[in-house]
Amino acid sequence: MTKYHLVKGTRDLLPPETAIWSAVEETAKSVFGLYGYQEIRTPILEHTELFVRTVGESTDIVGKEMYTFDDPKERSLTLRPENTAPVARAFLEAGLHAGPLPVKLYYIGPQFRREKPQKGRYRQFHQIGAELLGAASAYADGELLLMLNRFLRELGFSELEVLLNTVGDAASRAAYSTALREFLAPHTESLSADSRRRLDVNPLRILDTKNPLERELLKGSPALKDYLTEGARAHFATVREVLDRFGVRYRVSEQLVRGLDYYTDTVFEIVSKDLGAQDALVGGGRYDQLVSDLGGPRVPSLGFAIGEDRLIDVLPAAFRVKAAPEAPTLVAARDETIALDTLVQAERHRDQGLAADLAIGLSKKAVIKRSVRARQGVTAVGYPPEEFVVKDAKTGAELRLSLGEYVNWLVKGGKDTDEG
Ligand code: HAM
Repeated sequence: MTKYHLVKGTRDLLPPETAIWSAVEETAKSVFGLYGYQEIRTPILEHTELFVRTVGESTDIVGKEMYTFDDPKERSLTLRPENTAPVARAFLEAGLHAGPLPVKLYYIGPQFRREKPQKGRYRQFHQIGAELLGAASAYADGELLLMLNRFLRELGFSELEVLLNTVGDAASRAAYSTALREFLAPHTESLSADSRRRLDVNPLRILDTKNPLERELLKGSPALKDYLTEGARAHFATVREVLDRFGVRYRVSEQLVRGLDYYTDTVFEIVSKDLGAQDALVGGGRYDQLVSDLGGPRVPSLGFAIGEDRLIDVLPAAFRVKAAPEAPTLVAARDETIALDTLVQAERHRDQGLAADLAIGLSKKAVIKRSVRARQGVTAVGYPPEEFVVKDAKTGAELRLSLGEYVNWLVKGGKDTDEG
């Protein structure tokens, strides 16, 4: 036992589970590759200001969930709570905005939010995300959702439905914010401190409230869809047209506003009923002003992030089975005297690209027990030339097998009560 333990809300990922994680990540890389995306790796540490400026002061993430600390020289630093802002920063810092657009990037890695841990909610969690920078067309939104859909299909999901909404362009949002502020003005007294703050900074985020009294109040509020400009309306219609054309299941959810401030126009989430309370598996949308908010030119962009921990919680069983690695062949030596010869045999397996486990000094019984349990084949070296006599299930003929052959016969389903 150790006296040191995991930090609350973090997890160790151990084998064989890690093999499933790798297989999911390889699938993401290959599907995203089909659409021309390439990997980006950014630091886990960023200047705090990056997230305050983009994710937004009105959000829970910036308001209470960031791991922020002061560095004596660098001032305030934060463990990234999400990766869209860092990718946009890196895009600008590398001058990619001046090259050919769009730029298509994906990432896989840990994110940190100091949330109350529960099933499906961790303080260090992992995202698989994609960002498409420099694409204004609504067909780009459609294609991004097709890529996400293809990835989830490849993992064997079939039941998932996209929740879709538009939060409008800047002009739609300005008009709606005014209307919502006017509607809520007589009720400010009964709003929570959080909502009052949001009313000032980004009124749209009030629609995300979980407070029952506020939910009731909002029932009579103006609807965002009535304030959309022609352009925003047409953009959203085209996104839906693409999804319809390719038979991607989606439902328009007017309540969906997302928990980060940088979104414009299309927003979406994918939820899974198998996840319980923390049911959001994927979140994403368009962020046409994020790059210019960081001091760059206007670069209309969009993306998504999949919660990898949650994805793996509800991963279809067939993918798990396919992803589980085959047990290495057991190359077993009776004792140390033939260890070198056995090592040569094990290396020969590996020369041919076959995995091998070396075991020295196992008894005959131990070889049988271990390899039958792990369902692994055996190459046995130096065991007495005894023969195991078994009956062939089909022909009824008597077979005389060496230790290695005998174990392989058992592993393939042969049954014998007399184990040598
Ligand atoms: P988000 O909705 O905050 O969006 O997170 C995306 C996904 O990360 C969620 O749907 C969920 O599956 C997972 N997730 C979030 N917090 C936790 C947690 N505490 N524990 C486990 N999983 C969690 C973003 O992060 C945006 N950057 C997505 C995006 C990319 N938008 C445009 N591009």
